[in-house]
Amino acid sequence: MTVTQRYRYIYKPVIFVLSLMPLLWLACGLFGWLGASLGADPVKKLEHELGKTALNLLLLTLAVTPLRLLLGNPHLLRVRRMLGLFAFSYVLLHFTVYVVLDLELNWRAVGSEIVKRPYITLGLLALLLLVPLAVTSTQRMMRRLGRRWHSLHRLIYPIAILGVWHFYWQVKRDVREPLLYAAILAALLLFRVLRRYGRPALTSKSGSATAPGRT
Ligand code: HEM
Repeated sequence: MTVTQRYRYIYKPVIFVLSLMPLLWLACGLFGWLGASLGADPVKKLEHELGKTALNLLLLTLAVTPLRLLLGNPHLLRVRRMLGLFAFSYVLLHFTVYVVLDLELNWRAVGSEIVKRPYITLGLLALLLLVPLAVTSTQRMMRRLGRRWHSLHRLIYPIAILGVWHFYWQVKRDVREPLLYAAILAALLLFRVLRRYGRPALTSKSGSATAPGRT
């Protein structure tokens, strides 16, 4: 089996199914399948789990390049687009649950929450910034945008910062978990900075397989 076949028929399907698992589990909880339950406040539970999964996937997407360089495996890039699109889908579901189930499509309430709660403003900004990345994630858009594609997709860094900040701000008391996310994000960003400013061990010796179409 060639590397391309391994990615196409094994690794990508496995990552696809794993990324769907949190959603399937929440669906089980929602419909009471397999003995799963969403607890006393199912809407909050949905909101929280979808938000957390979105953030996990966002950080995983950011971790692909450092892992590719540290492991010397350029093929890892082939799974990045899928992870990024799953992150976007979970953010969208998180937002939908909030607007449809939590605020029951009361647009006036949505507007006032955006204005009154800074963490909602940050979350919405992150979601809006994710849209152009999702829209331009196809090979055709990559070819069409050329170098501009890479500049545009650097938005993933501010988006991740906004996501973690949004998490931190909405926590009422125990900030340990968002701080852990912040530490992971800081490590990923530090890696990029060191790479950019020339630590040879962190620069791409395993081939600059950044052809986005393969991500
Ligand atoms: C990149 C975008 C986003 C990410 C990564 C994200 C992530 C998260 C995370 C991790 C949590 C905490 C979950 C927990 O405590 O277990 C959360 C909570 C929440 N998020 Fe987001 N979110 C994003 C965008 C949004 C947007 C666009 C909205 C709505 C406009 C939103 C509304 C909320 C609400 C209402 C909560 C729960 C707050 C509470 O418990 O009172 N988020 N989000």
